[in-house]
Amino acid sequence: MEEWIPIGYLLSAALFIFGLKKLGHPRTAPRGNQYGALGMLVAVLTTVIKIQSDGGAQWTLIIAGLVVGSVIGIIMAVRVEMTGMPELVALFNGFGGAASALVALSESWKYIENTDLALPTGLSIQVIMVAAGLSALVGWMTLTGSILAMFKLKGGISVFGKWMKTPTWGPTWLNPVKVVLILSVFALIYLSIGEPRNTDYLWAIIAISCVLGIVLVLPIGGADMPVVVSLLNSLSGIAAAFTGFIIGNSVLIVAGSLVGASGLILTFIMCKAMNRTLPDVLFKSFGGSGEKAQLTRTKVGSDADEVAMMVDGAQKVIIVPGYGMAVSQCQHQVKEFADLIAEKFGTEVKYAIHPVAGRMPGHMNVLLAEANVPYEQLIEMDEINPEFPDCDVAVIIGANDTTNPAARSGEGPLAGMPIIDADAARTVVIIKRSLSVGYAGVDNDLFYMDKTMMLFGDGKAMMTGLNTAIKEL
Ligand code: TAP
Repeated sequence: MEEWIPIGYLLSAALFIFGLKKLGHPRTAPRGNQYGALGMLVAVLTTVIKIQSDGGAQWTLIIAGLVVGSVIGIIMAVRVEMTGMPELVALFNGFGGAASALVALSESWKYIENTDLALPTGLSIQVIMVAAGLSALVGWMTLTGSILAMFKLKGGISVFGKWMKTPTWGPTWLNPVKVVLILSVFALIYLSIGEPRNTDYLWAIIAISCVLGIVLVLPIGGADMPVVVSLLNSLSGIAAAFTGFIIGNSVLIVAGSLVGASGLILTFIMCKAMNRTLPDVLFKSFGGSGEKAQLTRTKVGSDADEVAMMVDGAQKVIIVPGYGMAVSQCQHQVKEFADLIAEKFGTEVKYAIHPVAGRMPGHMNVLLAEANVPYEQLIEMDEINPEFPDCDVAVIIGANDTTNPAARSGEGPLAGMPIIDADAARTVVIIKRSLSVGYAGVDNDLFYMDKTMMLFGDGKAMMTGLNTAIKEL
């Protein structure tokens, strides 16, 4: 059996790599997910075989762990709403970081407690303590930071009142505190090399890392939250890689490095999409006070018949979906609208996809794919923006920040974020329930332009009404 162990680990690492490759495109992403899950199954089974051949597995513990983990995973996956996915991802990142840190702690504890225990080949107790310290730093920081990120994405919990509800809270004195905390963890890791069996250092590292996760995430809010969730995802992978090093498990090092690297790439892609640098996200508060804009202007709403008549005759329509489409789950009605106007009026229809529309990377792609919108019609922001001046009607469904021209002004919470140039279309139709602000809390001039028609109401109800009006034309 033992000779199968390296082969099992190699197979699962290969499955992770193929899975990641397939995740690169929406069409192949579901298969990529399956490869990843299969890779994890192979890794778990191989590890169980390894434990058994190392001296006997504690089957009760392993089976209990598998059953409890699977039941929690299935319940969460079944119950989560599509709009609650970012919170779930944030929570899972935290659990991943904590699990890695706990394994590293228990493994290093074994060697601290038992001086006679043979160390893994090639490793000294000092090396183990450095890896355990780094794993504790990254793992515990990821746990507390992710739990806080989850509550912030949910919109706050009463016990922390203002801090949690206000998307942005960043007194400048917090920045030196963050730097001092990070430096003190490294100082403690350095000290632990001199006294590797002094557990006080390890406890102090864990305590500081927990505080660090909170002070790092606390001031971050509004539009920067997706970047933080992705960074925490990357950190949970790095924690796993450190732990893999301590327990001498090659597949954990490979899988952890893959998660760390891919999470970091996604973090930088999102920073670019929002025109932010990572240090800006982590150390500069986004949007000053975080207060929502006070709305004083009004706009008369339009109705479905008027919009239907205007779409009749349009040669080119670009649909701009946003978070409101996810909330009202109207992706099927949106697809029906696109099919109707293409068939009835011969209109060319495309979809403009902003990289951070919605509440998670790829949110719009997932919803529209569920409604069987052809992938060729989903066009990324940079590619679709030059087409807006030739577009007769831009139909915005529940998008706000990602179309807000205030982003071009260089001021305020959205300053510098690239947006969908829907305001360049000849006519703009916006479907949302009110004139209220989006995630970043900024009033949107686009609503008040002369060429803009507002259809006030829930996305699904409005799209259904619009489709009926078009059928009746
Ligand atoms: P938002 O700016 O969040 O605006 C969404 C709009 O949808 C709201 O103004 C809301 O207006 C409307 N809406 C809500 N429920 C609706 C319903 N049932 N029917 C119709 N409309 C509804 O959306 P966006 O343009 O997609 O921008 C996303 C924002 O979220 C960005 O600031 C981004 O940074 C942030 N964010 C993104 C992510 C990722 S990774 N995508 C993660 C976290 C945060 P009414 O209330 O008037 O209806």
